Amino acid sequence: MAKQKIVYVCSSCGYESPKWNGRCPDCGEWNTLEEATPAAQLTRSSATSASAAVRDISGSIKEINDIDADDNEVRWTTGLKELDRVLGGGIVKGSLILLGGEPGIGKSTLLLQICQKLGEDHTILYVSGEESLRQIKLRARRLGVDSGNLYLVSENDCEAVCSVIAKEKPEIAIIDSIQTMNISALTSASGSVTQVRECTNLLMKTAKSLEIPMLIVGHVNKDGAIAGPKVMEHIVDCVLYFEGQKNLPYRILRGIKNRFGSTNEIGVFEMCGSGLREVANPSEMLLSGRPSDASGCCVACVIEGSRPILAEVQALVTKSAFNVPRRTATGFDYNRMAILIAVLEKRLGFFFGGLDVYLNVVGGFDIGEPAADLSVALALYSSLTDKIVPPDVITFGEIGLAGELRAVQRAEQRIAEAQRLGFNKCIIPYSSMKGIDTRRLGIEVIGADTVQKAFRAALP
Ligand code: TYD
Ligand code: MG
Repeated sequence: MAKQKIVYVCSSCGYESPKWNGRCPDCGEWNTLEEATPAAQLTRSSATSASAAVRDISGSIKEINDIDADDNEVRWTTGLKELDRVLGGGIVKGSLILLGGEPGIGKSTLLLQICQKLGEDHTILYVSGEESLRQIKLRARRLGVDSGNLYLVSENDCEAVCSVIAKEKPEIAIIDSIQTMNISALTSASGSVTQVRECTNLLMKTAKSLEIPMLIVGHVNKDGAIAGPKVMEHIVDCVLYFEGQKNLPYRILRGIKNRFGSTNEIGVFEMCGSGLREVANPSEMLLSGRPSDASGCCVACVIEGSRPILAEVQALVTKSAFNVPRRTATGFDYNRMAILIAVLEKRLGFFFGGLDVYLNVVGGFDIGEPAADLSVALALYSSLTDKIVPPDVITFGEIGLAGELRAVQRAEQRIAEAQRLGFNKCIIPYSSMKGIDTRRLGIEVIGADTVQKAFRAALP
């Protein structure tokens, strides 16, 4: 028999190396390489593939039309529309869903809360490796969860958990959390890459063979990645991140990977005294408490998944006390901000040299869409010149390096959302005006082909 090989796996990124390093060559983290047994050795028996007989699987080939899978039938609603949307319409039978997030963000709360609705028609086994049954019961009472179909067990042994699932056959299994699960045959500690990978594999086999959906909680490390992300993310069907700032009650659920739906959707929740509450109108929440007479503020409209969301962009441009000015961007890409400043300097002649620039998207919201460019540029310009953007003005549009405004998708939907929230004037790229009947709308829509023209239209 060949000698057992040892590999070193990075607990941050999953990089494998035959020898130990102080620093991971892949992600650059220090002290993250841990001793592990290679995956191939654990799964393959000692018999070599050459000596084992090759199985004939031609009998299991099927034509695609012969396989019956009714999408409506196999999706189970969780009772939280925001979660259902992120999942692509509900929980798919036999799927493995990973819910990641920082400790204390509300993962256990979310999963316990959906047990109430799911428990109406399905039996659920909630496995907790972190809390005692009494603690879960107290939390469930607070959340108003009292379903008679919800069964709890406090256990860390992954093999025992899988065998009890196979024996009791619950219709849904919840594992809280994967970092606390362990397989006793493996020498490494709970939460290490080997344990996480092998436990996930074991749970996946159980979920797929019994066709039960399984929701697994995964904690994220300081960089915001799920511990051993590479080793877990390709095993599961769906990866959801629960994020938000600790000091704000708002939580955003984001799909990172989904085999059964779109990954663009987000779900917005608010943490209150009795658990998580859905926020059906995120724009209203993001715009509440907006100042009406401050320079540097501008409202952007971005599309998140299928919904338009309005968010306030704030910029503060002040004289720097240092030789190298300070520039920060929160909720917006820093490099994108640098490009917009360069365009304002080169194409419009507004100079930011020697000035500190602080950019912030209010409410802990993260804007990734280029359609927010115009609002960011307008906020920067407004702060620089101390001119106030009227509070009933909204803008969107991508800015090109020549200072031109480029078309964005779904302009009509964005305008409708702005109108719904009481805005009176909408400044958009001229090329996005095509097909929009401005007379029919109860909002003034102005098309501009350059940043200059847009600024002129926005500021009286
Ligand atoms: P929890 O679900 O335990 O977080 P995770 O499982 O992601 O580690 O959430 C804990 C936080 O949620 C805790 O700081 C308190 C808060 N919380 C409320 O504000 N209201 C509630 O009803 C509950 C159950 C928790
Ligand atoms: Mg928890």
